[in-house]
Amino acid sequence: MRSLDYIFKPRSIAVVGASRRIGSIGREILHNLIAFDYHGKVFPVNPKADFILSIKAFPTVSSIPDRVDLAIIVVPRDQVLGVVDDCGKKGVKGLLVITSGFSETGDEGRRIEQELDERVERYGMRMIGPNSMGIMNTDLAVHMDGTFAPTLPLVGRIGFLSQSGALGIAILNMARRLDIGFSFFVSMGNKANVSNNDLLEYWEDDLQTDLILMYLESFGNPRRFMPIARRISKHKPIVVVKSGRTLAGALAVSSHTGALVSRQGMDIAIDALLEQTGVIRVDTVQELFDLTLGFSKNPLPRGDRVGILTNAGGPAILATDAAIHLGLKVPKLSERTQAELRHLLPPEAAIHNPVDMTPIPDRSKYEACARLLLEDDEIDSLLVISVPPIMVSAMDIIMGIEGLRREFAKPILAVVMAPEDFFDALNDKFPGHMAIYHFPEPAVRTLAAMERHRQWRDEPLGSVKMFQVQTRAAEVLLAEVRREGRRQLTTPEALHLLECYGLPVAKSVAAASAGEVVERAKSLRYPVVLKAIAPDLVHKTEAGAVLTDIRTPEELDAAASRMGESVSRARSGQAETSAPLGFLVQEHVRGGREVIIGMLQDPSFGPLVMFGLGGVYVETLRDVVFRVPPLTDLDAEEMIRQIRGYQLLEGVRGEAPIDLKALAEILQRFSQMVQELPQVAEIDINPFMVFPTAGEFCAVDARVRLAEES
Ligand code: ACO
Repeated sequence: MRSLDYIFKPRSIAVVGASRRIGSIGREILHNLIAFDYHGKVFPVNPKADFILSIKAFPTVSSIPDRVDLAIIVVPRDQVLGVVDDCGKKGVKGLLVITSGFSETGDEGRRIEQELDERVERYGMRMIGPNSMGIMNTDLAVHMDGTFAPTLPLVGRIGFLSQSGALGIAILNMARRLDIGFSFFVSMGNKANVSNNDLLEYWEDDLQTDLILMYLESFGNPRRFMPIARRISKHKPIVVVKSGRTLAGALAVSSHTGALVSRQGMDIAIDALLEQTGVIRVDTVQELFDLTLGFSKNPLPRGDRVGILTNAGGPAILATDAAIHLGLKVPKLSERTQAELRHLLPPEAAIHNPVDMTPIPDRSKYEACARLLLEDDEIDSLLVISVPPIMVSAMDIIMGIEGLRREFAKPILAVVMAPEDFFDALNDKFPGHMAIYHFPEPAVRTLAAMERHRQWRDEPLGSVKMFQVQTRAAEVLLAEVRREGRRQLTTPEALHLLECYGLPVAKSVAAASAGEVVERAKSLRYPVVLKAIAPDLVHKTEAGAVLTDIRTPEELDAAASRMGESVSRARSGQAETSAPLGFLVQEHVRGGREVIIGMLQDPSFGPLVMFGLGGVYVETLRDVVFRVPPLTDLDAEEMIRQIRGYQLLEGVRGEAPIDLKALAEILQRFSQMVQELPQVAEIDINPFMVFPTAGEFCAVDARVRLAEES
């Protein structure tokens, strides 16, 4: 038995705190176990009762003569630790703690939860909760409803993990009405011992579970989630409803990357993480149900071509528009299908795609036409729309189509624009029926999500490449900056750091004073750019700290004196002027396209890598994409392709495309850098100049800030 089997496949359960009191949680849980016909032994535990719900009760867990796999604990908080000790004595290996009042309530609760977790570890147990609403396993061999939810679950093949107990109950209620059944339901509570990631791994190879749903409020350990979710998504879709969390105000940021993250909130990190792992994110519970219907009742489509069969023009147009908008195709049917449809349907019917049968097709017409569409190799999935006509029963039509689901390995979704009682009657009469929606758009959105997921699944996983780099030199450089009591690197230091990771930088030299500038710049090709090195200078441009297009040594000399004066003036107005003023002379890079590469370290999430169009309009255009490192080769390529301005990189009006492979390698090297240097809090490389030939790529400016010392 695996350790979580004691919780999810127990052969016997003790309900500690089972009660006779009507309305008490302890009674409800015992009642649900019995009502759902739990396939194992149940032992109520209550020191004050001989029997509860006609079952013999025991005063303590240790007094139960039989073995106990799982103890469901429903006693007041201050009794919980004592009960756990008693369970330990008995050798119980699984705990489900319903009791609340732990870390969710403050310091005292946090302390008791820690103690609880320590004891669970010590006794070699696993625990769901505390503060859980309970768990279900509908497998016939277990058949356990260990919740106090009022609704008994429908049996199905969906594992559902909920971080909110209350929302979990609501979803279970709704799911029953929508004919959605579950293999498992788990209210995670405070996740003191068993985490979301543990449960995902448990479901990875579970034969009862084909689809995983998660309602999440936080990611306990996003780094661990990444490989697990990525692996599982390749064979079981994971759909997540994640309530957002904003980062604004949580970090004091000083980079473009930081500003963009703050503005968009932490959602971008979560979006990036989910996208990289193939997890499907939805924003609302309604969408969760829409997708669940489609994913749980159909195979994935083999492509993006949708066939639409309807008895009304309007909804079919809405469906077609939505499909095209979401990147699906509504292709012409094959000649043969068209000919057969022409033969079957009245002359006024439309036999292209969408196929509009006109208002009065009966069950046999619907079925025959649907069959023709499903047989057509031009079609990967079928959307059947029915606006119930007066003379024909929509139920009959659906039943006709239903038979085709077994014959064809293509998704079939239906839209029946009928009142609620139609759906209630359908669920009663034909449980397990096809995915049926009230309106076309959610059905099409679901098909699009299924197709996107299919594409993701068919892609190779990609690999994380490790480059030969100078990590040690980079660490020495950063240690030196720290030793000087600084957190901000000067521009030459920042550029040098990039070089340590093989990121090319514009040819440049540093000079300690204005007088040395011309001499030092001898090795450079004019025109050049002159920059003041003054990391503590806040408003660089206003202080005249950057001068471009300097064509001769004479111009450079004059520019350096001028800059020296104006920067000193600007700095004298500032409270802190720690580092001495220096200069950087850089060859003027022309003709490239500007991109930005950035990184921000989130204290709980870790580093986030950003890529987008660079230059001065970064924060205005906000054409950037985020990913969680480490980046695979495919992640890097996808980041580049996903920005809105991708065409600019590919080249417009006859421009040659930039070397995208080389740019992807730059992003991977950057990813390695941020992974290996956790002491760096923020990086902006802006602009990073890219060209058709990789040899010309170079970083022109970079800002690097170290994390606060812990
Ligand atoms: N061993 C065995 N039985 C015990 C012990 C013990 N050590 N101590 C007490 N009991 C019995 C009691 O005698 C009582 O039985 P009785 O009714 O026969 O007298 C029973 O356990 C329950 O104890 P009560 O003191 O009546 O506690 P009550 O039922 O009021 O509350 C509960 C207990 C439900 C655990 C409560 O403390 C609690 O935490 N409630 C919140 C639960 C919750 O919401 N969890 C999160 C769900 S997620 C969501 O948001 C929906």
